[in-house]
Amino acid sequence: MLRTLNSFAVDLIQIRSEDDLFWHVAQNVVGRLNFVDCVIYQVDQTQTCLRQVAAWGDKNPFGRSIINPLIIPFGKGITGRVAQSGKPVIVDDLLRSQNYIPDTQPARSEICVPLLSRGRVVGVIDSEHPDPGAFGEAELGLLTTVAAMTSAKLDLLGEARRSAERYRDLVASHAQLTEEIAMRKALEARLFEARRMESIGKLTGRLAHEFNNLLTVILGNLDFLEFDRTGPNADRSLYDARTAAERGARLMRDMLAFAQKSRLNPIRLDLNAEVAAFQAGQPHSVAQRLDLSLAQGLWPIAADAAAIESVLLNLVENALDAMPEGGQVRITTENLLHNMADSMGQGMDILPGRHVRLTLSDSGVGIPADRLGQIFDPFFTSKPVGAGTGLGLSIVRGFTQQLGGTVTVMSEPGKGTSFQLTFPAIS
Ligand SMILES: Nc1ncnc2c1ncn2[C@@H]1O[C@H](COP(=O)(O)OP(=O)(O)O)[C@@H](O)[C@H]1O
Ligand SMILES: [Mg+2]
Repeated sequence: MLRTLNSFAVDLIQIRSEDDLFWHVAQNVVGRLNFVDCVIYQVDQTQTCLRQVAAWGDKNPFGRSIINPLIIPFGKGITGRVAQSGKPVIVDDLLRSQNYIPDTQPARSEICVPLLSRGRVVGVIDSEHPDPGAFGEAELGLLTTVAAMTSAKLDLLGEARRSAERYRDLVASHAQLTEEIAMRKALEARLFEARRMESIGKLTGRLAHEFNNLLTVILGNLDFLEFDRTGPNADRSLYDARTAAERGARLMRDMLAFAQKSRLNPIRLDLNAEVAAFQAGQPHSVAQRLDLSLAQGLWPIAADAAAIESVLLNLVENALDAMPEGGQVRITTENLLHNMADSMGQGMDILPGRHVRLTLSDSGVGIPADRLGQIFDPFFTSKPVGAGTGLGLSIVRGFTQQLGGTVTVMSEPGKGTSFQLTFPAIS
């Protein structure tokens, strides 16, 4: 019998649904354990009734279908009493019991055991016999064991169902999240595209405007020269036309630099050498206004020589523009060792470690505090039409940030301005 119970338990492992479980148990209580019949009831959702879920035996010759599916209220009949009390019951002679609810065929004795899960009744297993006194301790032991196995399997199936539901929920919320992320990305892309179109529009408009002005100047002067090639104003017209054409060339160069911001090719550079070469490449009138103070043993940086030249050119031009009455531009380089406290104390974006700092100071008009926030914006210029493109500082910041550096500006209106560029040093 122990072997039978054991193989019964092993078979339970395969079962995947409550329905299969109930029918398997009913069938085996009859087939393997030699009970005459077996009916299984499950407690319904209201927790007040038993509902017949499987039946095996003479009463049920058609396999998996219940001829007369009974609903039994708790407390009513023998099964109802077992459901209510949670205790097994054996009735020796049904003819003498008021509790008997006759099924399709009359019987004389009955045994009923509860299915318990965590101390709660979830159903009952019931068996009847045509003879009186058919059930004793042995049958009670057997059926109680079967009930315990069935309850354990029911718990497992419930747990599996709940975890499958949890998994489904998880998959659903994951899908929802993925969808939301995709939506947000699409939105960001649209926003980015809108901004891009806006800045391209701004750029094109501004460029057309600038070029129109320059062409007006050039054409006007050419018209004049056509009239009078030798008069006293001819030289002046030539000069004006040439200056306007040079401004056009300069504008193109800035635009190209602005457009090529993403194509830097950093190599190991000595910033001092770049500054010195820059000064040497300037016309005398500019070179003599540059005051260099270059630190000895300056650490090398990873940079692009053309980018550094462009940065210096733009900063120097701005400084000279800011000092129409003359004055020196001071260019300083130095090594900078940043510790954590420095970085935090100054509220700067500079990481702790070794850096090289380039400072460019003038004693010019300075920048009003309310303009400081705009000067790096593309096309922001305070200069008259034709004099500034408003791209210089955009280029400076773009290049510096691409090289891993930072730009800060300090200015005192009427006293001067100082731009500080910091680049990470390499070994
Ligand atoms: N050294 C400086 N002194 C005073 N103002 C400056 C200085 N550098 C930049 N600025 C201000 O920042 C603005 C933007 O500079 P920039 O981007 O180079 O464009 P642009 O020189 O064509 O105007 C300038 O128009 C000016 O108002
Ligand atoms: Mg400029």
